[in-house]
Amino acid sequence: MRMSQRTRELRAKGADIVSLTIGEPDFDTPVNIRDAAKAAMDMGFTHYGPSPGIPELREALSVKLREENGLHYKASEIVVANGAKQAINNVTLSMIGPGDEVIILAPYWVSYAASVHLAQGTPVILSADVSENYKVPAARIAAAITPATKLIIINSPCNPTGAVWSRAELEEIAALVRAHPRLMVMADEIYEYILFEGELVSFGTLPDMQERTITLNGFSKGFAMTGWRLGYAAAPLPIAIGMGRMQSIISAGANQFVQRAAVAALQGSRDDVENMRAQYQQRRDMVLAALREIEGVKIADIPATFYAFPDVSAFLKNKTSQEMCDYLLEEHGVALVPGSAFGAEGCIRLSFAASEADIKKALRRIAQGLKSFR
Ligand SMILES: Cc1ncc(COP(=O)(O)O)c(C=O)c1O
Repeated sequence: MRMSQRTRELRAKGADIVSLTIGEPDFDTPVNIRDAAKAAMDMGFTHYGPSPGIPELREALSVKLREENGLHYKASEIVVANGAKQAINNVTLSMIGPGDEVIILAPYWVSYAASVHLAQGTPVILSADVSENYKVPAARIAAAITPATKLIIINSPCNPTGAVWSRAELEEIAALVRAHPRLMVMADEIYEYILFEGELVSFGTLPDMQERTITLNGFSKGFAMTGWRLGYAAAPLPIAIGMGRMQSIISAGANQFVQRAAVAALQGSRDDVENMRAQYQQRRDMVLAALREIEGVKIADIPATFYAFPDVSAFLKNKTSQEMCDYLLEEHGVALVPGSAFGAEGCIRLSFAASEADIKKALRRIAQGLKSFR
């Protein structure tokens, strides 16, 4: 937020700023989805709908989760929400309370900790660094589990690192869940369609894990639908009922013509989704190659998402990632997000949901800026 605000101020004064801060696709929503929304509006789907979502969408999601992910949630176990963000808050507010601990794996998307705080729970942050491909090993998770631990949040593919957990890595976490009967997992798979290498394993497909997993997903990233505000969580029925109650108090659910459009998104051609994925992949290649050329930058592979999360600690000396981002913005005209925002001081996040021209320009500026940072 702070970087975007400062970018606007500098641009207003005429400065040439390239911004790679944004966490949303730079593409427009595919036309078949927009058309479906318009048609639904004209058909009169402009009234209140059922709070946990329209039956057609919950049913379509049940099919999607089964066919694409190998998960077996009934429509009644799926709660459609105003963005995955609302779905996360439905989870925390209905499951977590004072005294409950939630394990969050850093680098993490900042809203998880905020959501746990909102529910008056206690986030327990565990960190992994670039040498571990930013994936916290199961042994470190095991050591942090206490009788108060209620939930582990796994975000694969991960914002901000682009990391994807392998089946073997998830199996190790599943073994911990089996050993602790009160423990649940929230698996946030919102970047599933922006995958470049390997396979995405849905945590709930591991043996015995479906009834221990809340699967979270949304339309924002893969379908370029950020502004439509549509996400969902699938969970064992008692939790789904709790989430639905929470949502009926807070927002009474997502709007109906958007949900109709989401059915079209799920049932229509995926060509646009694939085109966007392919373009992110080209940009990913460009970003990785350029960052690897800067001596001193440490970078893990980026098998998914539209983020790069280089470790620039060698350039920081005793300064912070925020000070580095301020410097890169003020002196070199490139806006990035400091790693501290994701619980990972020493890193910076670049989003490559931007044009190739902007990405190239930004990478030149970053290379220069890092070298001259004092
Ligand atoms: C990992 C992750 N989960 C969930 C969300 C929320 O998505 P939305 O509320 O737009 O559906 C985001 C958005 O940045 C995200 O990065």
